[in-house]
Amino acid sequence: MQISLSSAQPKAWSGTVLALGIAEGDPNGWIPAMEERFSISLGDWLEQRKFQGKNGESASLQLLNPDCSSLVLIGLGPLEALEVNSFRLAGAAAARASKDQTGSLGLFMPWNAVDPAQAVTVAAQAVRLALYSDQRFRSKPEPSLHPERLELLGPLPNTLSSALEAVHPICAGVELARELVAAPPNSVTPSALADSAAQMAREHGLDLKVLERSDCEAKGMGSFLSVCQGSDMEPKFIHLTYRPSGPATKRVVLVGKGLTFDSGGYNLKVGAAQIDMMKFDMGGSAAVLGAMRSIAELRPKGVEVHMLVASCENMINGSAVHPGDIVTASNGTTIEINNTDAEGRLTLADALVYASDLEPDAIVDLATLTGACVIALGDEIAGLWTGDDSLANSLEGAAKDAGEGIWRMPMHQAYRKGLKSLLADLKNTGPRPGGSITAALFLKEFVKSSIPWAHIDIAGTVWSDKGRGMDPAGATGYGVRTLVNWVCAQTQQAET
Ligand code: BES
Ligand code: MN
Ligand code: ZN
Repeated sequence: MQISLSSAQPKAWSGTVLALGIAEGDPNGWIPAMEERFSISLGDWLEQRKFQGKNGESASLQLLNPDCSSLVLIGLGPLEALEVNSFRLAGAAAARASKDQTGSLGLFMPWNAVDPAQAVTVAAQAVRLALYSDQRFRSKPEPSLHPERLELLGPLPNTLSSALEAVHPICAGVELARELVAAPPNSVTPSALADSAAQMAREHGLDLKVLERSDCEAKGMGSFLSVCQGSDMEPKFIHLTYRPSGPATKRVVLVGKGLTFDSGGYNLKVGAAQIDMMKFDMGGSAAVLGAMRSIAELRPKGVEVHMLVASCENMINGSAVHPGDIVTASNGTTIEINNTDAEGRLTLADALVYASDLEPDAIVDLATLTGACVIALGDEIAGLWTGDDSLANSLEGAAKDAGEGIWRMPMHQAYRKGLKSLLADLKNTGPRPGGSITAALFLKEFVKSSIPWAHIDIAGTVWSDKGRGMDPAGATGYGVRTLVNWVCAQTQQAET
């Protein structure tokens, strides 16, 4: 999608679809202006549709005019209540209303109600991400008609075009994440994830190291390797690095859970456990790979970014781990696997030990870790666990700017006793109540305590059954924008 700024006013713009953000009560008088331009009377039509400019309302009208074939009005709510996220939702609504039409979409909004650079960027992102449609697995791709050009209308300073340059890199990262998550488990295997990392490394000049099973054995990653004992797929421990052109004053590590399929193992997923959806159990790895794709193109200064994914499948055969097996992680911790379905934390344990050895300034992991987090927060909000208030603030800020829901959850030390094992240092699974908290406490055991670390449970947000805002139904690409914002904010801190 080609995106540009245009100084044309709605009264003069010509193209295919003209979409106007209308504040409640139309204080700017855009509706009379459109009546005049198209020589029509809109009153009855708007009355029928009960369109008042309230948040979430929209109305479209075929005009059959050679200069503009349809008009879309998008309700924004009261002008004074506008926030950056309103522009995101309005952009997505405009995109949905312009589907099935080709040519250009002109989007006019009260950009100056917030920071206009942010407003145009998020609206443009939203249009592109809302129009995304995945046709890779159909024998005959369904033609997805939509405008090829987006024009952001209004008196906007030309300097904003540099803000728009970030739209493509960020959307490409989100789309990569969505495609990796949506692809079935016979297509996205651990090797396929390593291949995508290799392709990214080649195309964007990143450094890549892939540890094979024997390398992981040599490092003593008995926790990670226990998970894939019953799988025919080779595990891959993927380490991708972005190095800035100048000196780096900060080093951060992004860790993603990369289970390309989670059957549950001998604690097989049965009943309502949605085993058929467990291709999305590599959503954490998709988010960190997507973020690396964006970062590699945005090239933030001053920050070195490492990405780690301990990828494998959780399957069953005669070699699979037994419920009750005791394994040893690469930091020497022994773990009694009382539930083979709590496998994500076993893979993350060795990845977090490896991350700590890189001696970074911060570690952030993303994982579709627990069903308990979905029960607690639903599918629009991810859970955030960290003992570091400043890291919590920076991640919450990054998520807010990204329009991604996040909520800080308690790192309640007293629940650590739920992980006590009679025989080993730890069990991998605590009691069902508070299950996403004990999962976070388990991970904490593998991070060097002096390193600020945060865990984000994306079990709910990785997928949207019905679609919402700028996310069509299916894989959301959750986390990419938050991580990119957060990494780029590190740079600003690093430069001051
Ligand atoms: N991948 C699942 C978590 C999950 C469940 C993600 C549902 C999305 C939707 C994870 O490996 C898992 O199975 N967790 C168990 C942990 C339990 C055995 C302590 C769970 O949440 O049931
Ligand atoms: Mn599991
Ligand atoms: Zn899992």
